Amino acid sequence: MKPYENEIQALLSQMTIAEKVGQLQQCGPSLVGAFEVSFEELLDMMFDGRISHEEFERLMGTAEQDYHEEALRAGRIGSYNGIADPEIVNRLQKIAVEETRLGIPLLFGYDVIHGFRTVGPIPLGEACAWEPDLWRRTARLAAQEATAAGIHMTFAPMVDVAKDARWGRVSEGAGEDPVVSSAYGVAKVQGFQTEDLSRPDAMAACIKHFAAYGAAEAGRDYNRVDLSPQRLYEEYLPPFEACIQAGARAVMPAFNDISGVPCTGNRWLLQDVLRRDWGFTGVTVSDSNAIAECVVHGYSRDKAQAAADAITAGVDIDMSSDVYVSELDRLVENGTVPMEALDRAVADVLRLKFELGLFEHPYRTDPDRAARDINRPEDRALAREAAEKSVVLLKNDGILPLQPEKRIGVWGDLAFSREDMLGAWAVGADGNLCVSLADGLTNQNISFVSLQGETGLAEVASCDVILAAVGETKDQSGEAASRADIGLPEGQEERVRQLVDTGKPVIAIVFAGRPLAIPYLAEHAAAILIAWHPGVEAGNALAEILYGAVNPSGKLTTTFPYTTGQCPMYYAHTNTGRPGGRSKFTSKYLDTPLEPVWPFGYGLSYTTYAYQDLQASRNGSGALSVSVTVSNTGDRSGDETVQCYFRAPAARRVRPVRQLAAFQKVHLEPGEAQTVSFSIPIQSLGYYTPDMQYTVAPGTYAVYAGGSSRDCLETQVAL
Ligand code: BGC
Repeated sequence: MKPYENEIQALLSQMTIAEKVGQLQQCGPSLVGAFEVSFEELLDMMFDGRISHEEFERLMGTAEQDYHEEALRAGRIGSYNGIADPEIVNRLQKIAVEETRLGIPLLFGYDVIHGFRTVGPIPLGEACAWEPDLWRRTARLAAQEATAAGIHMTFAPMVDVAKDARWGRVSEGAGEDPVVSSAYGVAKVQGFQTEDLSRPDAMAACIKHFAAYGAAEAGRDYNRVDLSPQRLYEEYLPPFEACIQAGARAVMPAFNDISGVPCTGNRWLLQDVLRRDWGFTGVTVSDSNAIAECVVHGYSRDKAQAAADAITAGVDIDMSSDVYVSELDRLVENGTVPMEALDRAVADVLRLKFELGLFEHPYRTDPDRAARDINRPEDRALAREAAEKSVVLLKNDGILPLQPEKRIGVWGDLAFSREDMLGAWAVGADGNLCVSLADGLTNQNISFVSLQGETGLAEVASCDVILAAVGETKDQSGEAASRADIGLPEGQEERVRQLVDTGKPVIAIVFAGRPLAIPYLAEHAAAILIAWHPGVEAGNALAEILYGAVNPSGKLTTTFPYTTGQCPMYYAHTNTGRPGGRSKFTSKYLDTPLEPVWPFGYGLSYTTYAYQDLQASRNGSGALSVSVTVSNTGDRSGDETVQCYFRAPAARRVRPVRQLAAFQKVHLEPGEAQTVSFSIPIQSLGYYTPDMQYTVAPGTYAVYAGGSSRDCLETQVAL
């Protein structure tokens, strides 16, 4: 037992009910003053166009922030979110430590999702690097920057497996596969937390959204989730379990319900699975306002019941709904909520504060470092490396890399936008520090013709090649940004068609927070680069790839369908009794191809790779040994992600046609060959039977290895 467990008990014995409940209250600053209407009304005014977005931002800038200091002094606030100013953090911390009865320090949480000041690619982009070491290093940098500003906990990583491209939050996670999402989540947890949370530059990871938020029906945000328990366990829970085993100290229950029970009130999920089965001893933090929303769901009768439901289910901290502070004191006093439930939640909060070393060093800010950390060249170099590795080359008819003497024309607002390079959830960052595609070209002394505006098309004649920047702005993905049509937004395709019709080769640079349905580009563009939202170094990374200083190596971690109607589309589907084929009565659509445009794992390079000699055998220690030789058959050095898949034999439940088992990225010089070996625990190849027994099916397994989920060598092995 850790020594602070005694101190936790000692504190609990001194605390009043009100003080205990206070530890569970997390709030952010509220806006006051400056405008004559309520904040909600102001939001409505912006949404219905009565005021512009800019006017809204200006008004917000003039508003005063209320930090609820009276409540803090009274011991009614245990943590804050959304504050990243070391001076304010220290001022509030001083009140907690010096002016509250027990002097318990505050915990500060923040959404540090893909970088804090130095923002890198969105998670879905960074995942395409398939490189845990990179994922860890960028998380480390984010933690160093964020802790200097006073942040103790990040609401990240998001490890929601997401197969439906309509869902805007696919941008925040690692894609559709549980193996990739687990590796990504574990690396992020390690990078944020380090081995020792009490280090001044370590930050607790709050993994989210537990669970299955990515399976929201129809890809609509916050929507219901109805899953078989088998799919929940096989596809959605593994990344959470992996992060907990890697030591993640906080978990955020998801907004959605699962089979009719909101995760925020889901005792089975938060106690049986998370604590009993996985041994989690950290803190749970509700999603924003989610406890109050148990009433809106139609699950809890009123706020009092929502408070009781959430605390007894195992939600420790109430983020922003104020339901615990308004209801719990009374519910504990009248015996509706047992004191043990309250004590357990408070103990979790205090434990994290001890682990972070806050009782000893409550002022964990470093204002000098916070000021100095902004825009450091070495940090930007890491953001650039991440951006370079996240870009996926989907098509190249040979035009890339570009020859410097070619005269290029650039079209598309996104080519000139800095702010949009940040992508969703870059709340601590300054868009002005981003390098746009146009900036990136200029930085490399590449002159170009702007094809913007009405007269733009007339300029095309003077160009040899056109760069068309298409796709989504940063607000078109992320939370509350589901799309019912995942094609190119706002008439972009029409303009691209005009450009293609000029007969000049068009290179599409696609910025996006999700897979887009872009079959027209697939057919008519000379080359396609998926840039995602690449972060502060966007333009520099893209210019290096376009001109060949960097050889693209990203591979998709999410399937690109032809059309929205195919969503959700993913590689690890089951076969059905009538797999799609040429005959009519098979599983397919009449009006779209069967296969995706680009499958999971896919991504080209400026060199080529060949695979040979795939071997699979069972070794003595309960593992499947797989080896394959990959060689660089082109004339440039490059990085290739070797992927190993399997298909289980007939089992008591149908199994996917292919499932990723392992992956490894290798660097190969031209002509170089390397034999890549995997040792895959046989125990990891199992599934859940109809009565939820985890079983490994005996029989002959198909084993695949190659450069994408579609292009693989195949062999068989008996297990
Ligand atoms: C999001 C969370 C986020 C929280 C705090 C919520 O709306 O769903 O992912 O961490 O806000 O900002």
